[in-house]
Amino acid sequence: MRPETAEPESLKPETAPPVVETHCHLDLEAYAGDRREVIRRARQAGVVGFVNVGFNLESSVRSVALAREHPDFWAAVGIHPHDAREASPEALARLRDLSAEARVVAIGEIGLDYYRDLSPRPEQREAFRRQLRLARELRKPVIIHDRDAHDEVLKILEEEAAGLTVVLHCFSGDAAMAARCLEMGYFIALGGAVTFGNGQRAREVAAMMPLDRLLLETDSPYLSPDPCRGQRNEPARVALVARKVAEVKGMDVARVARDTTRTAARALGLSGLAARRSG
Ligand code: NI
Repeated sequence: MRPETAEPESLKPETAPPVVETHCHLDLEAYAGDRREVIRRARQAGVVGFVNVGFNLESSVRSVALAREHPDFWAAVGIHPHDAREASPEALARLRDLSAEARVVAIGEIGLDYYRDLSPRPEQREAFRRQLRLARELRKPVIIHDRDAHDEVLKILEEEAAGLTVVLHCFSGDAAMAARCLEMGYFIALGGAVTFGNGQRAREVAAMMPLDRLLLETDSPYLSPDPCRGQRNEPARVALVARKVAEVKGMDVARVARDTTRTAARALGLSGLAARRSG
């Protein structure tokens, strides 16, 4: 039986291999006018699962609402380093409550952003550590945002993330850092950067990453891949990321899609995904 929500008549598995969009922000105002259309296009392009990721309390609540509404959506809840000052004990208690929902699969996105520095760094570090401790308490995976803070992110993960499933989203380190992450047992998610003219570093990471540790994402509405760079991004374009990763690895795109889908399901515990995929 195919579930009605997967719009099976428009899914063309032979041209669009099933793939998981492991990081998007479809709750944002940017999709207020056409959210359903954006979701429909993604399903048509082969997206069989979406992880909508919170970046503050409000967006975490909205992410959970999307996951309630759509059976192919899961949510992550967390406070981004830009909003670090929001990470009060009360806010963390709220995240703990939200996490009780079965479709909340991770704490994220959390981490450090030393590129834009929208929050003082000591506050960023404190919010990051607190949420890692929350994830450990809840035994949930974590989705990490790291911008120009590689060494410190890895140091804090080593100190606070023992036993946790760690996904480094929108990975911006080099192949040496990726190797270090592999050694630590972490997962890496790649997005539009692998398609950019100046994305050589991301392509080097794609080339060396085993598929059982690699996730695909778009970070919509940000970071739209070539040839749509600069536009509002959307999850359908995760197919462009899959295609580029396959090209870099010299592999069939169907294999990259299949294996990264398995990896996403395993890393994030996307229960029900396999049933829908084979439906
Ligand atoms: Ni994001």
